[in-house]
Formats: sequence, structure tokens, C-alpha cells
Amino acid sequence: MWTLHFLLGTLLFPLHSFCSQVCPEKCVCEQTAVVQCFRVQAVPSGIPRDTRKLNLGYNHIKEMKNRDLSSLPGLEELILSTCGVEQLEGNTFRTQKVLKTLDLQKNKLRTIPRGLPSSLENLHLGHNRIHSLQESALQGLKKLRVLNLQNNLITMLRSSTLSALTLLESLSLEGNRIETVQGALRLPMLNLFSLADNKIPSLPAAFFSSLQLLKTLDLSSNLLSKVPHDLPPALLHLSLDRNHVRMLRSRDLAQLRSLTTLTACNNRLASVDGGLRLPNLTVLELAGNQLRVLPGRLSSRLEKLDCGQNQIQEVTYQQLSGMRQLRHLFLENNTIRHLENHALRNCLHIINLALEQNLLPTFPRGLPESLVRLDLKGNRISTIEEQDLKSLKRLQVLNLRKNRLSSLPALSLLPKLKTLFLEGNPWNCSCELLRVKRSLLARDVDISPEFCSETVHMSVDIWQAYVLTQEQCEESVEPTPESQTEHTDNEDYYDYDL
Ligand SMILES: *[C@@H]1O[C@H](CO)[C@@H](O)[C@H](O)[C@H]1NC(C)=O
Ligand SMILES: *[C@@H]1O[C@H](CO)[C@@H](O)[C@H](O)[C@H]1NC(C)=O
Ligand SMILES: *[C@@H]1O[C@H](CO)[C@@H](O)[C@H](O)[C@H]1NC(C)=O
Repeated sequence: MWTLHFLLGTLLFPLHSFCSQVCPEKCVCEQTAVVQCFRVQAVPSGIPRDTRKLNLGYNHIKEMKNRDLSSLPGLEELILSTCGVEQLEGNTFRTQKVLKTLDLQKNKLRTIPRGLPSSLENLHLGHNRIHSLQESALQGLKKLRVLNLQNNLITMLRSSTLSALTLLESLSLEGNRIETVQGALRLPMLNLFSLADNKIPSLPAAFFSSLQLLKTLDLSSNLLSKVPHDLPPALLHLSLDRNHVRMLRSRDLAQLRSLTTLTACNNRLASVDGGLRLPNLTVLELAGNQLRVLPGRLSSRLEKLDCGQNQIQEVTYQQLSGMRQLRHLFLENNTIRHLENHALRNCLHIINLALEQNLLPTFPRGLPESLVRLDLKGNRISTIEEQDLKSLKRLQVLNLRKNRLSSLPALSLLPKLKTLFLEGNPWNCSCELLRVKRSLLARDVDISPEFCSETVHMSVDIWQAYVLTQEQCEESVEPTPESQTEHTDNEDYYDYDL
């Protein structure tokens, strides 16, 4: 297809400067000064001089020589990713005065190449074997905005090595082996910074203090035992997941007036200061810690609170009363025995409540009408009263698996119900329960076909027993008007996520 295009282009406009040049074998030259070459082992000669973008990715180019790019002064973007590059000669880029983007990801470089052009704005060196950051290699890169060094073998970060990069906006050092961090980073334009997945036990006192514009900081998967000091006040997103942090204290975080997302899952948190004084927090994720109490008095803007997999025993109205914007509350896999009646009565926007794998003896009472999804799997609930369900006018998904239920009230009280999980309960398949089942089926509620379809008399086969029970029930139970609820909703299962 392209070849035809190209041929037509050359035939029809033979004088066009770019097309009039010959394109090297194994390369594709587009009219927009973009060249891509396939199955080459070196930079091919004869690439048009006015090429602006050269894509040599996925070739086998072990080494870049000084002369390789000398006839391409207009190069703005060079892609050399996944080429097995081991080395670049010192003067490889001496002709490139306008190169902005250099992609050397997924090669075998052991050091940051020297002599990179000072025009560079984006430098991608991820997935190489670089083991140290040399100041000299970075010194000239005054225009650099993006530096990606993820998945290398760097063991130490000395802040001064990066000090020349005064315009740097994004720095990724994720997935290295950094154990030691020294000095204070002076990168006034830095917006995005990842040190995730290293081995950092602590950070120097003033490390972040000059990062006035930093918005996103990822420190997940390290060995931090404390929240670092002097976190930059402009932060919007902070991740501390998978560290060894024991406490979240207001005094370490109070300057983060803009913070909207804080995640500290899988740490060793035993306590969280009341409120945390983070007025703009909308997402707080603390799953997989050792919390015994739900953090209280959190921001009134909070929309998502995840405290799953902790050791929380009780949930009270007081803890939740200020969270008037809460939409998602995850409390699964705790040891909650007591959920205060009407504990969520101020959470009038809640749509998703996860309480599975707890020790609740009864169905929660007084849940808000906004609820769309309620998970109670793996508790000790033995009865459900009609009044427990009355408020749940929007509930679509209810999980009651693995409880101690033998009967159900009329579920017509849940007019929007779409999916009901019932397995793993000691059901007494009485006529009343069969009637509930029939009305659910008539409403097209998704339930397991096995629910109350086993034999009542062991001696007859399942179908006979079923028919027999049905007949017995017909006699003793007045027929219910089928499905009192209309099928008005065509909302999707996942509507509640919107
Ligand atoms: C908090 O968020 C609101 C709206 O998202 C924003 O207008 C305000 O500036 C934020 N406050 C701070 C201190 O960042
Ligand atoms: C519940 O949490 C414990 C400890 O936090 C963990 O070991 C277990 O795998 C979790 N169970 C589930 C079902 O998530
Ligand atoms: C099952 O329900 C029926 C009717 O409600 C009742 O008579 C019977 O005792 C129940 N059986 C058990 C084992 O609870």
C-alpha cells in the first residue's frame, strides 16, 4: 500500500526534495521526513539528509559510531529502542543540534552515553544496565524535560548529579536498586517523580524541599519506615504502598493542603492520626495494614476509603459522619463484629460497600438508599428482616455467599436487584423460600440455578422432588402476584462506577 503511494508520489512530483532522494534498502521513507528501517545491523547510509524522525527500533545495532549520524543534521527524534545497543561512541551526536527526543530503552547500555546533544528534551534510557548516574554525562542537558531511567541497576542517588537539569519535569528511577539517597534535589520544575520499587530505607531531611511544583510522587515498594519529611506542598498524589511505615501523623502531612490521593497499602500502619488535616483528600487507600480503628474525621471531600485487610472490629456513625461525599467504602477482610445501626446515614452518595470476610452477625441496618453494590460474603449473618432491606431502593448487586442464612424475606423490597449471590448458606428450602426464588426468577434476577433445587426427599430424583415440592407449595401457599416490580431500569451492572 505504502509503496504504491510512494511510487505515485515520486512519479507525480519528481522534483519534491524529499521524495526525489533515494530511500535506502530496508527502509521506508515517508514524505513527512520520517524514516523507518527494518532488519539492519547498523545505521544505513543514504538516509535522506532532511530526515527529522528516524526509527531504528527492533533492529540489531550493537554500537553507534561517530559517523553514523553525521549526515543527518535535521534529526529531531531518534528511536533506537530494543536494538541490543551496548555502546555509543563519544561523538555520535556531534552534528545533531536540534535532536529533541532520544529513545534508547531496552538495550544493553552500562552507562549514560556521553556527548548527548544539549538540545535534548526527552531521554529514555529505561530497561538498560546502567549502574550509576554520572554527573558529567548529564551536565549539558539544560533543556531536558523528561528523563526515564526505570529498570536499570542504579544503587545510589546523589542529588547533585542531577543539578544541571533545571527544566526537568519528569524523572523516573523506578525499578532500580537504590539503597542510598544523598543531598537535596534541586529540580525546580519537577512535576512527576518516581522512586518506586527500589530499596530505600530513608530519605535525607531536605531531599524534597526545593521541589515546589512536584505534583505526583511515587515511593511505593521501598523500605521506608516513616513518612519522609518536608514533602512538597504542591503534591496532589502520593503513593507509599508496600513500605514499612508504622504511623501516618498529621504533622508529617499537614503541609499537603492540595493532596487528593494518598495510598499507603501494605505497610505496618497501626495508627492514623484523626483527620490527618488533609482538606482536599478524595482517595485514601490503607488496605493491608494493622489498623484496629477506622481513621475518623477525614476530609469531607473523601470519595473513596479503602481499609480492607486490617484488624478493624467496629464501625460507628461517629467515624463516618463527616464523610458526606463518600462513594466507595472498602472494609473487607477485617474482624468487624459490630456495625452501628445507621452508621452511614450521612453518607448519602455511597454506592459501593464492601464488608465481605468479617464477623457480622446481622444484616447491617439503616443503610443509605444510594447503595448499588453490597458485599456481605463470608460473615455470620443468620437472618435478614424485611425492614433491613426497605431503604435499599437502588441496590443492584447483593452478595450473601457463605453466611448462616436459612431463609430470606421477600426481596421485592429491592426493586433494582440484578444479581444475588446465595451459595454456601444452610438454606431451608421451604415453600416460603421457594416463593421468594420464583419471584426472583420472574424478575430476571441473576441467581445460581442450584439455589433450592436439590431433593427434599433423598429417595426421588431431583426433578421429581422439585416438582413435588412445587406442588406441595402450590397447595399450601397462596399464589403471589408475580413480580410486583416493573422492569424499568436498563442500567448496566457497572453503572455505579460512573
Ligand atoms: C482543593 O480542591 C479544589 C477543587 O478541586 C481547588 O479549587 C482548591 O484549590 C484545592 N485546594 C488546595 C489548597 O489546593
Ligand atoms: C485477609 O487478610 C489477611 C491478613 O491481612 C491475609 O493474610 C489474607 O490473605 C486475606 N484474605 C483475603 C481473602 O483477602
Ligand atoms: C424449615 O422451614 C419450615 C417452614 O417455615 C419449618 O417448619 C421448619 O421447621 C424449618 N426447618 C428447619 C430445619 O429449620
